[in-house]
Amino acid sequence: MSVLLTGGTGYIGSHTAVELLDAGYDVVLADDLSNSEESVVGRIERICGKRPLFYKADVKDRGILGRIFSENDIEAVIHFAGFKAVGESVGEPLMYYRNNLDTAISVLETMKETGCRRFIFSSSATVYGMNNTVPFREDMPRSSTNPYGTTKLMIEMIMEDLCRSDDTFSCVALRYFNPVGAHPSGLIGEKPSGVPNNLTPYIQQVASGIREKLYVFGNDYDTPDGTGVRDYIHVTDLAAGHLCAMKYSSDHPGFCAVNLGTGTGYSVLEMVRAFEKVNGVKIPYEISPRRPGDIASCYADVTKAKQLLGWQAEKGLEDMLRDAWNWEKNRTGRQESE
Ligand code: WQD
Repeated sequence: MSVLLTGGTGYIGSHTAVELLDAGYDVVLADDLSNSEESVVGRIERICGKRPLFYKADVKDRGILGRIFSENDIEAVIHFAGFKAVGESVGEPLMYYRNNLDTAISVLETMKETGCRRFIFSSSATVYGMNNTVPFREDMPRSSTNPYGTTKLMIEMIMEDLCRSDDTFSCVALRYFNPVGAHPSGLIGEKPSGVPNNLTPYIQQVASGIREKLYVFGNDYDTPDGTGVRDYIHVTDLAAGHLCAMKYSSDHPGFCAVNLGTGTGYSVLEMVRAFEKVNGVKIPYEISPRRPGDIASCYADVTKAKQLLGWQAEKGLEDMLRDAWNWEKNRTGRQESE
């Protein structure tokens, strides 16, 4: 029996592959490599001592999906494949709706035809929109402020409708807060293409001299120091949450949504100061205007993850930022030598 990870050579997917392989599962990765590299497969093997099977595949393609399912005994699917840049989605909504919805629907159709019934989905805290009060709880109303977030919301609704129509399906939507950091080995991590949208990869590039300074998007929010507060979670904790959700799906049919966060929020300036302290590097910054669509605070109520999945985040901010910097040094070092 194997677990299929679509988008499996990506940031969260590769860390989840390590978690599953270390737990003794056989893992199949399918990825079109539009936002990742095939070399990740070998690095996963170097970490675990076991190589996942890899298919270069656009999982909108029902033909290649049918081949993957016929060549492997897939017991569950963890679906990461999809475009994920909020800003890009505003400029290219049709590309986001076509890609993100087609991938999810193609995977679910193939699962229905082949008898695979366990679907774990990479959702996002972005589905909480701008009108809920923190800490965000899974039963709060959903809304979205950008096409990327809308695709996450729509796929959750597709999962709910599927489970209502077929009570043999188990569908778990994992709502990520802010994944950061990298595997302690420094062999896998986030590979941002172009100018990083997210805070921590940008800080890493300021630290490595690729960027001159950090621009802090607004310091006039209703938060302790005026800068945006987010729930940053170590990517290896997030990966462990996927293993717990995958196990949960084996004997819990129906749809459920679960927050994967730490329950603690840190501001932008707290992240800057923590990164400087942990890694002994200076992060110059400049206060700049707010980024459209940003909310002041976003952090998780983590009760349900603990009660339902028996999971909670273990790693703290120091681990996150040390591992993030370690990855950045290895990544830039590797690029220079490659
Ligand atoms: C964090 C904070 C910014 C960059 C997004 C997506 C979400 C998920 C995670 C995919 C905010 C501030 C950032 C910078 C800054 N993605 N910031 N300068 O916006 O919370 O969430 O990424 O699932 O769906 O919405 O993360 O890292 O972009 O921003 O001041 O150069 O850092 O204003 O307060 P965000 P982020």
